[in-house]
Amino acid sequence: MRAAVVALVLLALVISNSPTDARRKGEENWKQRYRKWKDSEEQDHLNGGLIGTDEAAAAKLHREEQNSVYDAPSEDELWRQKIEEKKKRQRGEVEHKQKPTSEITAWHEEKWRRQQEQAVQTSPYFQRQKRRQPRDYHPEHHNGRNVRMSIPDHTKVAEMARYIVHNSNWTAVAYTSRQPGTYGLPMADIFSISDGLKDNSTGIPYMYISPKDTGVQDLAKDGRCSMIMSLSQSDYCRQEGLDPEDPRCGHVILTGKLKTVKNGTEEAARAEKLFFDRHPQLRNMPKDHKFRFAKLKISQILVQDYFGGPAQPTLAEYFAAKPEVSSGPKDPIPEAQAELLPGASSDSQKWLRPME
Ligand SMILES: *[C@@H]1O[C@H](CO)[C@@H](O)[C@H](O)[C@H]1NC(C)=O
Ligand SMILES: *[C@@H]1O[C@H](CO)[C@@H](O)[C@H](O)[C@H]1NC(C)=O
Ligand SMILES: *[C@@H]1O[C@H](CO)[C@@H](O)[C@H](O)[C@H]1NC(C)=O
Repeated sequence: MRAAVVALVLLALVISNSPTDARRKGEENWKQRYRKWKDSEEQDHLNGGLIGTDEAAAAKLHREEQNSVYDAPSEDELWRQKIEEKKKRQRGEVEHKQKPTSEITAWHEEKWRRQQEQAVQTSPYFQRQKRRQPRDYHPEHHNGRNVRMSIPDHTKVAEMARYIVHNSNWTAVAYTSRQPGTYGLPMADIFSISDGLKDNSTGIPYMYISPKDTGVQDLAKDGRCSMIMSLSQSDYCRQEGLDPEDPRCGHVILTGKLKTVKNGTEEAARAEKLFFDRHPQLRNMPKDHKFRFAKLKISQILVQDYFGGPAQPTLAEYFAAKPEVSSGPKDPIPEAQAELLPGASSDSQKWLRPME
C-alpha cells in the first residue's frame, strides 16, 4: 500500500515535470510575451510611428535613438557642439586644423593615374577617340531600327550630365531616414522623373510624389538628398558591353534639396505637362494619396563618365549645356562601317583588371 502511494506520487511528479510539459509551458510563456510585445508595438505604431502626430513620432524616434546601437549624436547635441566650437574659435582657443597630407596617398594616386593613362593610351577606345570617331550609339545596328542616338563626348562633362538626366526616366534617391529602426541612417528610394519633353530638356528632375511614401515623409523633414542616374538605365551600356560599374558606363549624381512645386503656378502646369508626357500611367493616382509635383534644387553635380575619377561641372555649365538628343531617322550605316562599331566586346574585362 505504502509502496503504491510512493509510486503514484513519483509518477505525478515525473508527469508534471516532464520535459515535454516544460517545453509546452515555455512556449506558452513565450507566446504570451510575444503577443504582449506585438500589441504594444502596434499600439506604438498607431500612436507615434508613421500615423500619429509629429510630437508623438518625435518622442518615439527619440526613444529609438536612445536605444540605437549607432550612437550618433542627436541634432541638438550637434548644434550645441557647433555653437561651442564657434565660441571657442571666437575666443581664439582653437587653431585652424590643417589636414595632414600623406605622401603614401599621393604616391598611390600618382601610380593609379599612370596606370590609367597607360591603359587608356593602348585601348581601342582611345584609338577611336584619336581617329575622331564620335562615340555613337547605334541601336539600329542591334535591333534594326533606323534611329541614331549619339552620347556626348566624355570630355564634355556638363553635356554628359544633361544627357544622362534627360534620358533617365527614374532615379534612385539617397537621403537620411527618419523612420523607426533606421533613424539617422542613409536610406534610398526610387522616384520616376522627367526633366522635360523629348526635345526640350530643363536639366531639372521633376517628380510626382505622395506623402504616403516613407521616403517622401523623411524628405519633407529634411529635403537634402542625392539622386543618381546611370546610362545603364537605358540599353546603352549593355549594347556597348560595358559593366554598370565601368566608368565609361556614365552616371551622374545630383545633390541638392527636394522642393515641392506650388499648386496652381505656371511651373506646376509645366511640370504636369513634362512629367505625364513620359509617365502617363501615373496620371490616375488615388486622390487620397495627395500626389503633387516636386523638383530637385540642384547644388552639386558629379559626373563619372571616364577613367580618372568623377568631374564636377558647375551649375552654370550644367544649365548652359544642351543634351544631345535623338535626332530622328538618319541613313543606315554601311555594313563595312558597322563592323568597326563598338559592339559588345571582351575589352571591358581589361579595364577591370585589379591593380597590383
Ligand atoms: C521649352 O521649355 C521652355 C520652358 O522651360 C518653354 O518656354 C518653351 O516654350 C519650350 N519650347 C518648346 C518647343 O516646347
Ligand atoms: C522613357 O520613357 C519614354 C516614354 O515612356 C520612352 O519612350 C523611353 O524609351 C524611356 N527611356 C528609357 C531609357 O527607358
Ligand atoms: C491643385 O490644384 C488643382 C486645380 O487648380 C486641384 O484640382 C488639385 O486638387 C490641387 N491639388 C492639391 C494637392 O491641392
